[in-house]
Amino acid sequence: MGAYYLDWLNLFFRWFHVIAGVAWIGASFYFVWLDMSLQKPPEWKAKKGISGDLWAVHGGGFYEIAKYKLEPEEMPKTLHWFKWEAYTTWLTGMAMLSIVYYANATAYLVDPTKIAFTNIQAIAVSLAFLFGSYLIYELIVRSRIGKNKLVFSVTIFILMVIATWASYQLFSDRASFIHVGAILGTIMAGNVFFGIMPAQRALVDCVRKGEKPGPDVAALALMARNRSVMNNYFTLPLIFIMISNHYPMMYSHAQGWLVLVFVGVITATARHFFNEKHLGRNKPGYLIGPAIATLALVFWMRPAPIVAAPAAPVTSATTSTDSAMAGAASGDEAIMAVVHERCTTCHAAQPTQAGFAAPPAGIILQTPADLKIHKDKIVVAVQSGYMPLGNITKITDEERQQLVAYTSGL
Ligand code: HEC
Repeated sequence: MGAYYLDWLNLFFRWFHVIAGVAWIGASFYFVWLDMSLQKPPEWKAKKGISGDLWAVHGGGFYEIAKYKLEPEEMPKTLHWFKWEAYTTWLTGMAMLSIVYYANATAYLVDPTKIAFTNIQAIAVSLAFLFGSYLIYELIVRSRIGKNKLVFSVTIFILMVIATWASYQLFSDRASFIHVGAILGTIMAGNVFFGIMPAQRALVDCVRKGEKPGPDVAALALMARNRSVMNNYFTLPLIFIMISNHYPMMYSHAQGWLVLVFVGVITATARHFFNEKHLGRNKPGYLIGPAIATLALVFWMRPAPIVAAPAAPVTSATTSTDSAMAGAASGDEAIMAVVHERCTTCHAAQPTQAGFAAPPAGIILQTPADLKIHKDKIVVAVQSGYMPLGNITKITDEERQQLVAYTSGL
């Protein structure tokens, strides 16, 4: 029953997380576009201190947007801040991390073939990894490195590559992917909370007091600007990671961490294309390059061809079972015995595995016909080691090979 209620929590927070994320990234895209699309205002506006001017039509109305070079003559009564989108996305994301990966750490977080953490250890390492990574980022952005855009970007890129690799050493493949996403998301929300908001508050304070912003406020504003740039380049990789969590071919690839690094470069470069475009510079190379790189990635990641299955896959190579010498019919039985022991505890209409209320991914594996229906996915999932999840059911290497050979021959 517990698993059933947990699934509801999962569904609720996932829904909430997606909506908050859409609002946040949507606003972020809009403001980046806005800022980069502003044009020189007419004389009468420039005299009021307006530095950028833009007209838009949307939803049956005209909008006139003005950006002030410094501050408005007088503080408006209502000022919109756009911060809760970021905070809510982060909070619901942390809730998802807990509900999916911490509540069922044995299945989702720990991979005993990497490090056999207990659940509590794994959760502690996960939190330390996440917040430790953020702390390092925060120290860098506040240091001298954070003041030079190029050095800052290169440093953060190298550190993200290391974090991606490290994540793969610590956690299950799927959890590794999501931890990199969680680090990006935490940095982005942290940029808002610890950098952008304080800078904006300082600026608004100055305007309220009628003071000219001093050098300390200018320094805060510069740091906030660099943090915004960082957030801008993180958006596309982040969204990719979040959705790719449903594609085992990505994260359970033998070089999953490298796959993720490639994807990070590809998606961030695509983001750069849009940034340039908003500035009126059309540089298709920044889109064609990632497209070619994507094709190369598709080719490089392709699964190894599977050797055609023999008629009776459970052959004399099997030393441990009595059915070793048997014919095709009992070959089916032998394979189904493996499936029932290693897979069906979860992949049943009524799973018996603790923490599972319904067949995961809607896949039920009870008969040879079921294997045939899900054949392609099973081969990839079992061959890559992704299934059985966290190898909770302790499948042996031999059984794994037999199952792959048998299923691919169906
Ligand atoms: C501990 C529970 C558990 C066990 C045991 C288990 N699975 Fe799964 N399986 C899952 C979960 C959870 C998912 C959904 C994962 C996701 O969404 O990425 C899944 C997904 C799958 C998928 C779909 C992957 C895709 O491409 O979307 C296949 C195929 C699969 N399992 C096959 C198997 C086979 C074959 C076995 C036995 C060798 C097995 N599973 C054992 C929990 C389990």
